[in-house]
Amino acid sequence: MGYRYIGSKEKLSDIIISEIKTIYPEATKIIDLMAGTGLFSKALRLNGYCVTAVDVMTYSYHHLIVNLILQQSPEFENITAMISLPKQKSVDLFDSSRYELVIKYLNNLAPINGYFFREFSPEGIPLNGTPSRKYFTVENAAKIDAIRYEIRSLYNAGSINDNEHSLLIHDLMMAANDVANIAGTYGHFLSKFVDRAKVPIQLTPSQFVADYNNYPHRVMLGYAEELAPSLEGDLCYIDPPYIKRQYAANYHILETIAREDEPEAIGVSGLRPWRDQYSFFCSKLHIRKSFERILNAIKCDNFLISYSEDGLLPIEDLMTFLSKFGTVSKKEIKYKRFKSNNSSKDSTLHEYLINLRKL
Ligand SMILES: C[S@@+](CC[C@H](N)C(=O)[O-])C[C@H]1O[C@@H](n2cnc3c(N)ncnc32)[C@H](O)[C@@H]1O
Repeated sequence: MGYRYIGSKEKLSDIIISEIKTIYPEATKIIDLMAGTGLFSKALRLNGYCVTAVDVMTYSYHHLIVNLILQQSPEFENITAMISLPKQKSVDLFDSSRYELVIKYLNNLAPINGYFFREFSPEGIPLNGTPSRKYFTVENAAKIDAIRYEIRSLYNAGSINDNEHSLLIHDLMMAANDVANIAGTYGHFLSKFVDRAKVPIQLTPSQFVADYNNYPHRVMLGYAEELAPSLEGDLCYIDPPYIKRQYAANYHILETIAREDEPEAIGVSGLRPWRDQYSFFCSKLHIRKSFERILNAIKCDNFLISYSEDGLLPIEDLMTFLSKFGTVSKKEIKYKRFKSNNSSKDSTLHEYLINLRKL
């Protein structure tokens, strides 16, 4: 399944980057203000830009460390003493990097009936007394528990450093995405296990591509509105949420993997408490105020803003609002709509790229 992230710009990267090159050919420093999966940040760095990426979600932070900061596999220097490598697999020890060995070690852990088993599998008994949930098969949930605990204890023991830790969390989230019993997002689970969800979960080593620029790319976790005063760039790309549904609710299980905690699982769907990551961009009432805080505070004069015809604000209203800050123009892109499996909406979507040049 890979990553089905609402609003992901993975497939639009080339168009957006060519627009950046057109409107600001000399730009070198780009801010990717709501970076999500980090795939667009990665495309920017591979196009020679120095990137600062921001998002309010912890899972995004880990994806960004992998996609933006890591140019090659980390060494996992301190790992060998800690892990007794699986004896039955010793034949390929000499061909594998330490990173690959760690992945094999995690894949071979014995399952543990922990938090994921209890809250997200059909044999678990959720603490809040609701019927069991079917996000993962029993085996996969217990495997996720085992891998989570091991990553945590390796990190606590100082056997993996911050980047290695982010990489393993990223790999676990990607593997969980492949076997999650959901229709696109984690807002709810499906009532019957689909075939994809019955496959045993497997971590796969990430691939790395270096950009050889030696730029000091940066990743920042937090609200764009609050970080804006500390940000500076030639151009700021803003890709805000455009619907009411919060990312924190839609991707709550990834957030729990990323934060390595065991939060109260609320209601039938088992959502984590997510108010601390509420996005004002999902509220018609607050979206303008948030834009205003950002546009006034960032040290940057050129903005490129993605928005969708499905957005909370009609595109013309957004253009009128943004024109208070400078000159605006827009480009229209026809795009394949993000569709959860049960959506009946038309499959073509109009995306807009708004260029704001501050006065
Ligand atoms: C449309 S998605 C971005 C997708 C991203 N461009 C990609 O290609 O993966 C919007 C992102 O904005 C983030 N977000 C929402 N409100 C935010 C805020 N106030 N500050 C920072 N990030 C925010 C969400 O967590 C989400 O990842």
